[in-house]
Amino acid sequence: MSDIERTEFNIGNTSAPPRGSSSSDERTVDPVAQAVEESAELNLRPKSLTEFIGQPKVCGQLDLVLAGARSRGVAPDHILLSGPPGLGKTTMAMIIAQELGSSLRMTSGPALERAGDLAAMLSNLMEGDVLFIDEIHRIARPAEEMLYMAMEDFRIDVIVGKGPGATSIPLEIPPFTLVAATTRSGMLTGPLRDRFGFTAQMEFYATDDLTEVVTRAAGILGVEIDHDAAVEIASRSRGTPRIANRLLRRVRDFADVHAGGVIDLGAARAALVVFDVDEAGLDRLDRAVLNALIRGHGGGPVGVGSLALAVGEEPGTVEEVCEPYLVRAGFVARTSRGRIATAAAWRHLGLEPPEGTMGLF
Ligand SMILES: Nc1ncnc2c1ncn2[C@@H]1O[C@H](COP(=O)(O)OP(=O)(O)OP(=O)(O)O)[C@@H](O)[C@H]1O
Ligand SMILES: [Mg+2]
Repeated sequence: MSDIERTEFNIGNTSAPPRGSSSSDERTVDPVAQAVEESAELNLRPKSLTEFIGQPKVCGQLDLVLAGARSRGVAPDHILLSGPPGLGKTTMAMIIAQELGSSLRMTSGPALERAGDLAAMLSNLMEGDVLFIDEIHRIARPAEEMLYMAMEDFRIDVIVGKGPGATSIPLEIPPFTLVAATTRSGMLTGPLRDRFGFTAQMEFYATDDLTEVVTRAAGILGVEIDHDAAVEIASRSRGTPRIANRLLRRVRDFADVHAGGVIDLGAARAALVVFDVDEAGLDRLDRAVLNALIRGHGGGPVGVGSLALAVGEEPGTVEEVCEPYLVRAGFVARTSRGRIATAAAWRHLGLEPPEGTMGLF
């Protein structure tokens, strides 16, 4: 999070959402490299619903929710944005505030460790503000309970003092809209989920939409790219705009050094080989997971914990970052006994699937 981002959206008292490896598909750990990537991301974020590419269903629904509230002159219902990393949840939260002409205040679940952290945030809100809580599934219980009341009654009880002398002081909160994001909606408690008036389920992007994302980003970055090259990058981006933008930046590096700064199909393909992104869009970690599943466990079934151990990653990273795409691409199936490699996964690694493998015809 940078100062530019705050001023751009007129954000006041904010705390930066920590980006843990379990919630982000940026696998860079170097803080300087990460800051550079994030500031590059910032410039590429669409600023309005009409600029937002893809997700037609979510955009249409949100448009109605916002227009309805605007026509009644009230703050819209609380909104939950749910979906895998890098699909545009944070971007959408910023757009919601922008479309409402409201200030955006940002925090995240892990930053709300105590109820007091949330009380401080809530008591600073102005009428109509949008409060964005990223990774809401990681909010601590006491803060979550305070949030119930704030969401429903725009009121909280602040406890002052400790032990028998502690008193509870009711505090009114101006009507606000909570926009929360989660990569794991299944981890939300029922009472919290029930308090959102609208849940936007973000889906992986089609290659056409990602081609548009790449072409738009290339325009903003001032890079010349031809259509076939944009399609090639898009089709290896695992349905995810953040990955599309990142691959574009790496391909641009390659083109600057080897192809006179112009990205054509040949340059895109050569660059993607250098950066270890295969035709299916799998990177080193995805392939390590498939290898662990197939070469290490005979194709499964195997638990996500064992897979994570085998590839030296957190189970959360394997579950939130690798798996959704491996499942969607038809390489992995989730069963009650564990993860299973499909015939397509065996073939992707150049192996013949054994008799009885799922997806074998
Ligand atoms: N619809 C879109 N059109 C163009 N670019 C997009 C779109 N959605 C996302 N992006 C780009 O993808 C990047 C990631 O988006 P964003 O940070 O909003 O994802 P996220 O869902 O919040 O991810 P995370 O779960 O990791 O927080 C941003 O740089 C943004 O510019
Ligand atoms: Mg985000």
